[in-house]
Amino acid sequence: MPEIYPIGGGKGGVGKSFIAASLGVMFANCGKKVVLVDLDLGASNLHTFLGIKNPKRGIDSFLNKKVKKLEHVAFPTNVPDLFIISSLHCSIEIANLFYTQKQKIINAIRKLPFDYILLDLGSGTNFNTLDFFLTSNKGILILTHEPTSVENSFRFIKAVYLRKLKQIVKQHAFNFAVKNAAADPNNAVIKSHDIIKIVLKYDPDREKFLKEKLSELRFKFIINLFRKNLDPKLGEKIETVCNQHFYSNFQFLGNISYDERIYDTVLLKKLFVLKYPYTAPSIDLKKIADEITKVRKSASLTSQIS
Ligand SMILES: Nc1ncnc2c1ncn2[C@@H]1O[C@H](COP(=O)(O)OP(=O)(O)OP(=O)(O)O)[C@@H](O)[C@H]1O
Ligand SMILES: [Mg+2]
Repeated sequence: MPEIYPIGGGKGGVGKSFIAASLGVMFANCGKKVVLVDLDLGASNLHTFLGIKNPKRGIDSFLNKKVKKLEHVAFPTNVPDLFIISSLHCSIEIANLFYTQKQKIINAIRKLPFDYILLDLGSGTNFNTLDFFLTSNKGILILTHEPTSVENSFRFIKAVYLRKLKQIVKQHAFNFAVKNAAADPNNAVIKSHDIIKIVLKYDPDREKFLKEKLSELRFKFIINLFRKNLDPKLGEKIETVCNQHFYSNFQFLGNISYDERIYDTVLLKKLFVLKYPYTAPSIDLKKIADEITKVRKSASLTSQIS
C-alpha cells in the first residue's frame, strides 16, 4: 500500500511546495519510489522547485481522457526514483473542479503504484483542498510562527475536522447539527465540538464509532521559516492544545530553519537539499523525513508481528 501524505496549510507562501519537493528527494534517496502530485490546481509551481521548465502532460490529460491512468502522466525528475505529476496545464476552470472530477483524481491517486505519494496542495480551506487533504488520514500541515499563520492553521484544522465529520455522519445529521449550532446566539463562530456534541445527541448510538473515526485522522505539522529568536517549543504547545481539544491525533514533526539561500536555489532551479545538504534546513528536513519513515517502519513491523 502506498503512503499518501497531503501537504497543506491555511496560508499561502509558508513553504508547502518547497517542503513537498525536499521530502520527495529525501524519500527517493532512501531507495523509495516517490511521486509528487501538484494539486495546487490554479497556481501550480511544484515543477519549478524540481528545476523542470514545462512538463508536457499532467492531471489535465488524465481528466480529459487523453491517458487512461494517472500514472501515465508521472514524469521522472533529475532525481532517481522521484517522479512528478504536474497540473501546470490545467485550465483556470479546472481549479474549480466538479465533484466527480475531484473524486476521479482522489481515487486515481490512491491507486498510484508508488511507495510514497506526496500531494502539494494550494492554500486556504476551499472544499477541493480539504478533500485532497483528506485523501489520506496523514495530512501534513505547514505553518510559520507568524500569528496570522497560526490563526489560519487552526481554521484549517477545524475545517478539515468538520469535513471529516461530514464524510462520516449522514448528511441530514450534519445539516441538523450545523443549523442548531448556528441558532445558538452564543456561537459567534461555529465550533466543531459543538457540532459533534449535537450530532452525538441526535445519534447517540454512534458516539463510539464517531470518536473512533475522528481519531483515525492523524495530523502532522511542521513549523517552517524558523529563526533563532523564536520560541522553539511553539510546535509542542500547539500539539498539546490540539490533542486536548480534538478527538484526532496531532504530532509536531519539527521546525525548519530559515535560510535565504533557499530562495536563491529556487531562482537557479536547483534543489536546496541537494546543493546544501549540511545546512540547518536540510538537517531539519532529514530529521523530519526520518521521523515520517520511522512511523511507517514501526507500523509495518507491528502488522508483521500481529
Ligand atoms: N525555510 C525557508 N527559508 C527561506 N525561504 C524559504 C523557506 N521555505 C520556503 N522558502 C521560500 O518561501 C517561498 C514560498 O515557498 P513555497 O512556494 O514553497 O510556499 P507555498 O506554501 O507552497 O506557497 P503557495 O501557497 O503560494 O503555494 C519560496 O520562495 C521559497 O523558496
Ligand atoms: Mg505551493
